[in-house]
Amino acid sequence: MSDLGFIHHFEPGKSERTFLLLHGNGGNEHDLLDLGRSIDPDAALLSPRGKVLENGAPRFFRRLAEGVFDERDVVRRAEELAGFVDAACTAYEIDPKRLIAVGYSNGANIAAAMMLLGVATFHRAILLRPMVPLSKLEQQPDLSGKQALLSAGKFDPIAPVPIVEALSELMRQYGAAVVTQVRDSGHELTMADVMAAREWLGTS
Ligand code: MLT
Repeated sequence: MSDLGFIHHFEPGKSERTFLLLHGNGGNEHDLLDLGRSIDPDAALLSPRGKVLENGAPRFFRRLAEGVFDERDVVRRAEELAGFVDAACTAYEIDPKRLIAVGYSNGANIAAAMMLLGVATFHRAILLRPMVPLSKLEQQPDLSGKQALLSAGKFDPIAPVPIVEALSELMRQYGAAVVTQVRDSGHELTMADVMAAREWLGTS
């Protein structure tokens, strides 16, 4: 099979659930496999590698500096990734209704951008240490029926709590059902993130 436009890893599962795993800055398609398995060992895993290289480090869209995003590229890359997700759903017979995005940091940001741009086919998203990826939107998205769990780190200097709360407000404003939680952590993930994701999905 071709790479469908993105280097990626796909692992079939035993449940109907598929996680779309979106790694952080400098990561790759293998980074979040263990996280996905810890949240639901029976889920299928679809994990693309970001196509933008920053000094050789993969990510999902271009940035101008830490926390300063090239928003035209965010839009273009979100649409491109949505095209990959559609192609992968067809190729691997994934039901988009059962697809759940699990993104960390840069991966959470591209998932949030897909939702805000109205190109996300997934209805549920676990966004770990996310930021607001777009400062303005051409069109107001209809996020009714979408659900998101947002997880911030109390001491996170990259995705500070007020920024995670701003994303949460924005998504809520467009109709999404959003749960926001703050961990006793920095930008790194902790076991509490896994436990909360399991609880939110009802897999615990
Ligand atoms: C981003 O570039 O998306 C954010 O700064 C988070 C990160 O460093 O990955």
